[in-house]
Order: sequence, then C-alpha cells, then structure tokens
Amino acid sequence: MRSFGEVWKSTVFQKWIMAVTGILLVLFLVGHLSGNLLIFLGPEAMNSYALGLKELLHGAGIWIARIGLLVMFFLHIRAGIILSARNRASKGIRNAKTEPRASSVASRSMIYTGLLIVVYVLYHLAHFTWGAVHAEYYSYIDAAGRHDVYRMVVESFQQPTIVVAYVVAMIVTGLHLNHAIASAFQTLGVTHPRFSPIIRSVGPLVGAGLALGFMAVPVAILLGLVGG
Ligand code: HEM
Repeated sequence: MRSFGEVWKSTVFQKWIMAVTGILLVLFLVGHLSGNLLIFLGPEAMNSYALGLKELLHGAGIWIARIGLLVMFFLHIRAGIILSARNRASKGIRNAKTEPRASSVASRSMIYTGLLIVVYVLYHLAHFTWGAVHAEYYSYIDAAGRHDVYRMVVESFQQPTIVVAYVVAMIVTGLHLNHAIASAFQTLGVTHPRFSPIIRSVGPLVGAGLALGFMAVPVAILLGLVGG
C-alpha cells in the first residue's frame, strides 16, 4: 500500500488538489462579484455590506475567510508549479518532432496566466485592502463613520490607467478560467456523453461571465455611469 506522502506527491493527487481548490476559488469570485455589483445600488448598499463583512462573527468571519483563501491560493499555485514542471520534464523525453496540440498550448499557458493573476492580486490587495498603492483614495470615512469603500472605488476607477490595469487583469483571469474549469471537470470525472456540449460550455460561460461582470464596475465608473 502507498504511504500518504507518496499519494500526496503523485500527479493524480496534485491535479485533484488543483481542481478542488480552483473550484473553491471560483466560488469566492462569484461571491466577490455579487458584493462588487452592489456599487450600482449606491454608497449605502456598498458601505454597509463592507462593514457587515468586517463585523461577521464579531470580526472573526473575515479572518476565517482570509486564512481559507490563503490556503486555497497556496495549494493551487503550488500544485500548478509542480504539474507544469512535470509536464515540461515529460515533454523532453517525448518525440521532439511531435507538434503541440491546441489543448496542450492552452494548458501550457495556464502557468503564465496564473502567475499574472498572482501579480494582479498583490496589486489589488495593496490597492483596496492595505491602502499601500493609490493611498490617496483609501482613508475616506462616510457620514455614518464607516470606511467609505464606495468613494474609494469610484475615485480609483475615475483614473483611466487604473481601469486599464484592472481590465487587462480581468481578460487574463477570464482566459485562465476558460481552460481551468474544463480541466477541473476532466480531473474530477464530470463527464456524460449526452451532456458533453453543456459541460464543455461551462468553462467559457463562467470565465466570460466573471470577467465581464468584474469589468462592469471600473468601466461603468470611468464612463460616468456610477458616482459621476
Ligand atoms: C474589477 C474587479 C474587482 C473589483 C472592483 C474589486 C474590488 C474589491 C474591493 C473594493 C475590495 C476591498 C473590500 C473592503 O475593503 O471591504 C476587494 C478585496 C479583495 N479582492 Fe477584489 N475586486 C475585483 C476583482 C478581484 C479578483 C478578480 C480577485 C481574485 C482573483 C479579487 C480578490 C480580492 C481579495 C482576495 C480581496 C481581499 C479580501 C480581504 O481580505 O479583505 N478581487 N476587492
């Protein structure tokens, strides 16, 4: 019988970790997008939601979510790096004349889109969570004494350069999710001969839906449709 260490290191198990953590991260994005769209309802909806998140379970809720997210990101990125290195090593011993298939081109680009997402997330945290970049928009307080998340987001996205950075990051995220969801379904054995066209369309639909949904906020603000 194989030891836990051997199972943990195996390619099949790392693929499984990648799929499960990836799906949990997508669920986080769905929740995050729903919160972001509250900006269309105005400052009260946005700021009371942001405060509600911070006060959940007497302040413990947000830390539980943050630790959970950090663990998911860590395991997902680690598995991605391990699998990409193994994939490259196995290519070296295959016939060098073999043309790369379209699917392998898509899967090899995952490590690059994934690393760009890491750069984006660090910039995004420095922007809205740590107030370290664009600090001029961070310390607003609204009339009810809450962090004015609405004003911070609106004034940030009135700057075209910040909007371009976010839009590019959302295109990269959409491309990553497009292939990632299909691959997670394959790893977890989500297949059915009758429903395969539907199963195949989930990745592109969710990827494009999340990317366009996230882009809607900066673009609407830049166009003056929100907060203008
Ligand atoms: C245009 C797109 C996005 C906008 C406008 C946006 C907006 C925000 C805002 C306003 C906050 C701070 C909330 C607060 O202080 O209460 C935040 C936090 C965060 N966002 Fe985003 N977000 C976007 C896309 C994303 C994406 C694509 C990811 C992940 C890949 C992401 C990951 C996070 C994380 C991890 C936090 C920190 C949560 C915490 O620990 O407090 N965001 N976002």
